[in-house]
Amino acid sequence: MKKTVFIKSYGCQMNLYDSGRMADALAPLGFERVDDGDSADLVILNTCHIREKATEKLFSELGRLKDLKLARAGVGRKLTIAVAGCVAQAEGQEILRRMPYVDLVFGPQTYHRLPALLARAERDGGYALDTEFPPEDKFDHIPIVRDTSPVSAFLSVQEGCDKFCTFCVVPYTRGAETSRNVESIESEARALVASGARELVLLGQNVNAYHGAGLDGSFSFARLIARLSQIDGLERIRYTTSHPRDMQDDLIEAHSTNSKLMPYLHLPLQSGSNRILAAMNRQHRVQDYVRLIERVRTARPDIAIAGDFIVGFPGEADADFEATLDAVREVNYAAAFSFKYSPRPGTPAAAMPDQVPEPLKEERLTRLQALLTEQQLAFNRSLVGKSVDVLFEKPGRHPGQMGGRSPYLQAVHVDGISGHVRTGEIHRVEIISGQTMSLAGRLVNSTRAAAE
Ligand code: 5AD
Ligand code: SF4
Repeated sequence: MKKTVFIKSYGCQMNLYDSGRMADALAPLGFERVDDGDSADLVILNTCHIREKATEKLFSELGRLKDLKLARAGVGRKLTIAVAGCVAQAEGQEILRRMPYVDLVFGPQTYHRLPALLARAERDGGYALDTEFPPEDKFDHIPIVRDTSPVSAFLSVQEGCDKFCTFCVVPYTRGAETSRNVESIESEARALVASGARELVLLGQNVNAYHGAGLDGSFSFARLIARLSQIDGLERIRYTTSHPRDMQDDLIEAHSTNSKLMPYLHLPLQSGSNRILAAMNRQHRVQDYVRLIERVRTARPDIAIAGDFIVGFPGEADADFEATLDAVREVNYAAAFSFKYSPRPGTPAAAMPDQVPEPLKEERLTRLQALLTEQQLAFNRSLVGKSVDVLFEKPGRHPGQMGGRSPYLQAVHVDGISGHVRTGEIHRVEIISGQTMSLAGRLVNSTRAAAE
């Protein structure tokens, strides 16, 4: 019998990817993925623990699902509720204690066991909890069932982290750093390209620390990229997220020599103060980061640099925050993600003295974001009058419009072309205007494109 599953993803791209693989793992059981939680037989909340009040949010969502479950039971229909992801990993027992009508709780390392877990919950009539870090590789246990994939597809190559930044839960929720083997990545990549992907975004919490086994020895991240770029039909490769310590020479060189590797580097700095970086256990100084960016820009002068920042880390004084603004001015970012420090239970920073008051965090974040937005707008406007290759991904918001991405990951819209440009195609586009979040352009060679 056909059943439906609704998977709600919170947080990072890794979670989005995991949600897709959960759907793959459930497909052989007859589950079809739907976009509507209210009618689904199985609802999975794929949670994120990295910032915000993740646990409270989860419990309020579960409260809503409980009402739905009870209403369904009244008319003889079942609702199975599952909690997955990093909050499940961190708070598994607590979730089951507070919310006994949750059927399944499983962490990011065990979703390949989902069919068995579901069966166990059904059979025993109770709940199933699986938050182990199992010895087997989850990627070896999930069939690839995609008929079509998005033009730009995520592909997880590395997971977990051994860096233990003092603010971060990832080493606890995702576990130790591991790399998938080359063969399994390559076969997934080929399947994605065969089903329509033109761009692959290689994912990992510390993706540039990749060191996976290949048939002829260990592969560095750059070597993996070189291998994948040989796949016919694959036009673009991106990766996220990287750590400054793992930015190896061969990866920097790949940015100058590999035309499929897009000129975009997301490299979190977190703070511009060496004192705070040390307290964060980031294992690099501001000047190391700045020098690294200079080397990357020498290899690929037009590369777009993106960063992550945390304001209000414990003990952050005005001078530390000013140093962050200085570093941002020095690097000049094309895009950035910035956050107020949020104490995560169990991490060293949560127990540090001198926690920064909320209003001060707020004020610093506003100032930092104003600077970053200004830089992003300047970067976007610097492309006006220039031509870039755009990979078209989907119809735009207006009739006739198509939307895609520039090599620098900017969203680009072109009007009046939906008749002759299809998703998955790359066309040369002249940029005619730039806003903070997107660019508008026109096809450079519209007669040629129309004839194709
Ligand atoms: N508080 C605020 N931001 C955080 N990040 C990770 N942990 C925290 C936290 N406890 C941010 C970092 C990281 C990004 C994914 O999330 O900037 O690079
Ligand atoms: Fe978290 Fe630091 Fe690892 Fe990034 S490098 S996942 S911030 S511990």
